[in-house]
Amino acid sequence: MDTNCPAWIMDQNIQEFVKKTLLSKEIYNPVFFRLKIEDDKKKFNSLIESTNVFLYDEIHSQLRELIKSRNPRAKFTTAEYQKLIDEHLHGCSYEEYGVWVYYPWSAKLVHILDEIEFVELRTSANRNKITKAEQDILATKKIGVIGLSVGQSVSLTLALERGCGELRLADFDTIELNNLNRIRTGVYNLGLLKVYSVAREIAEIDPFFKVVCYPEGILEENIEKFFTSGGKLNAVIDECDGVNIKILCRIKAKELNIPVIMEASDRGTIDVERFDLEPDRPIIHGWLDHLTIDFNVLNKLRTSEEKLPYMVPISGLESLSPRMKASMVEIEQTITTWPQLATAVTLGGALTADTCRRILLDQFTNSGRYFIDLEKLIADTRPKKELEFPVPPAELDIVEMNEIAERAANQLNTPQIIIKPEDIVDLVTAAITAPSAGNNQPWKWLYHNSNLFLFHEKSRTLSFGDFKDIASYLGLGAALENLELCARQKNIGTVLHLFPLQDTNKLVAAIQFSAAVNDTLYQPQKLVRYIHERFTNRNLGERTPIAPKIYDSLKKAVSSVPGAELIIKSHPGELDEFADIIGAADRLRLLHPDGHYEFYNKELRWDSEHSRVTADGIDISTVDISPSEVVGLKLVKDPLVSQLLVEWRAGKGLERVARKSIAAASAVGLVLMPQFSSLDYLLGGRAVQRLWLSATEHSVSLQPMVAATLHFARLNHGNGEGMPDFMKEEFKILYKRFEQLIPEIKGREEVFLFRLCMAEKPSVRSYRYALDKVLVMV
Ligand SMILES: Cc1cc2nc3c(=O)[nH]c(=O)nc-3n(C[C@H](O)[C@H](O)[C@H](O)COP(=O)(O)O)c2cc1C
Repeated sequence: MDTNCPAWIMDQNIQEFVKKTLLSKEIYNPVFFRLKIEDDKKKFNSLIESTNVFLYDEIHSQLRELIKSRNPRAKFTTAEYQKLIDEHLHGCSYEEYGVWVYYPWSAKLVHILDEIEFVELRTSANRNKITKAEQDILATKKIGVIGLSVGQSVSLTLALERGCGELRLADFDTIELNNLNRIRTGVYNLGLLKVYSVAREIAEIDPFFKVVCYPEGILEENIEKFFTSGGKLNAVIDECDGVNIKILCRIKAKELNIPVIMEASDRGTIDVERFDLEPDRPIIHGWLDHLTIDFNVLNKLRTSEEKLPYMVPISGLESLSPRMKASMVEIEQTITTWPQLATAVTLGGALTADTCRRILLDQFTNSGRYFIDLEKLIADTRPKKELEFPVPPAELDIVEMNEIAERAANQLNTPQIIIKPEDIVDLVTAAITAPSAGNNQPWKWLYHNSNLFLFHEKSRTLSFGDFKDIASYLGLGAALENLELCARQKNIGTVLHLFPLQDTNKLVAAIQFSAAVNDTLYQPQKLVRYIHERFTNRNLGERTPIAPKIYDSLKKAVSSVPGAELIIKSHPGELDEFADIIGAADRLRLLHPDGHYEFYNKELRWDSEHSRVTADGIDISTVDISPSEVVGLKLVKDPLVSQLLVEWRAGKGLERVARKSIAAASAVGLVLMPQFSSLDYLLGGRAVQRLWLSATEHSVSLQPMVAATLHFARLNHGNGEGMPDFMKEEFKILYKRFEQLIPEIKGREEVFLFRLCMAEKPSVRSYRYALDKVLVMV
């Protein structure tokens, strides 16, 4: 249907016309009738004959208002007003004065002042925040608005204020019910294109305001027209979702020296790019400069994975509000899209229209990103409870280590043999390639009077997961296993004294050397070869069956440590259950303030340079996660986000990585020990290392997934100390499921949970501290 309504009035039956145009979803122009014009009068008369048309005539009060606004000092009586109105009409009848405006979409016929007087009166209350001269300048300006959520608010504000003379609106979307939390329009407009809804609303406020609609949205084919047809735009407001169009419109704006303004309806974030004043300015403040801009690629971006590399720098993840970040984590979990509030959209409309006016009037010349963050500006200044984290103990001090070592040595026999310092270096080097929780390397070695002492360096290991140091003991046990394997290879005998002092657990082991080699080791000649080959494999791989004889040999390796036992589950139904339990434990770990703090501050390393410098922690590139999962991790980094997820009992998305890992796993295994004790965990660590080296021998990859078992230990042996109630309850339920899944744990202690997988080797290896940081030779 053509939007040029007057042309049809002549040709159509008027009832038909009213009906048809009422139902039309494309008409957005009103029809003007000036009754002094004979033809208009004829059409008008036939229109008002229609029973369906609603008439509104307040011309008298508009004339009175006009007179008042032109005589601000005067106080007229009713009679004086009437006299001045009559003079103003100059013999014209009320009916013929001004213009009748017919709104086809609502069948309303409204009598108003004609354009010049209408605009004068409607903008009179702008004075002198906007002077008459400024209003005249603004009337010559053209603004393009792309995307009509915030864009609707901007457009209406600009039209209300008459912040420009022409608006070009582009959006291909229709109004849906879930838009009505922020787009101010009636339910009768559902299904209507947003451009027409906005154009109609503007026409109802000011039928003379020029609006040009681009109902197909912005495309490569029409962008030139949008920017230039009918005169070059003076400003562009980008409120669209499409990455390609965001970039395209900026490239065009830059080419034509047109400023771009964007508002993000979160924390009042507004971006200004003055391509009019800075023709060489990079688009999006240069934040996309590291990317190749190729529209063949950009136009094909569909999934959030594909869009992320562009959207992350555009949105600036770090500066989003905590609620926005937490909500983004919930997308496709408990909500469908990111939230936008009416308050934010309304504010955005005002911020953008204000900025635009000042740009167009040469009152503002800057570029940049600005925040009108109401929560900061209108702040609740009540003191907030600061998060407190346990302070780790000081690093082991050499004097203290010596003192402890001497006390322990007094209880030991005289060393049988004295070995060369180079051998000590080799032994400790082998020992510290052992795995440790979060690669925290819990060891410190002291070679003193021909005895080697292994200390627990608690300054590195204090963590919520390391309940009673159990995770540390697993790593320390694995290190002892490596040390003994290496000694055996060198034909050096070893005698271990575990926890030799009753009064301190800082000293984990005293190692003495002898001529007789240790024959309690498991397949030492074979396994020693894999000490430097072993690694944690977090690559997903594909679920591939593993031969039963490999499982048998892994079980043998574990049970070679007295009391240790390995359980392996590989049935798909069992693995699904593990995915639930392990996923939930990973989520709960990140939702606990201490677990969250430790994960982000001590464990996770965002890139290889970060892990190289710290020489500890887990390099994120060793974790097989998608870019959107990395973004998820970055969003949750903010402790306020994790707090919000706890409040909302949400955060299911935090289970995704573990669920994917189990979905790709061939099996899940669990090392059991007889009881919950430091010694059992230390010996458990030895069993773990035998298992891991054997798996390496069989080219089977292993990834520990211990959040569940470590927290179960806290629950069962520490009454869930330090866990909020909801977490304790959830862990209790998880543990019941765990017991049902592995009935073998009855009466035993589950010490180490892991997955076995067939996956490509990681491309980077984990770092270790330099030897002189962990070995003292005196
Ligand atoms: C007790 C313990 C717990 C561990 N927990 C996990 C875990 O939950 N998830 C994981 O991916 N790796 C885990 N690991 C593996 C360590 O992160 C890994 O050993 C360390 O980063 C060193 O890397 P590497 O094993 O490749 O040498 C754990 C290791 C140990 C010893």
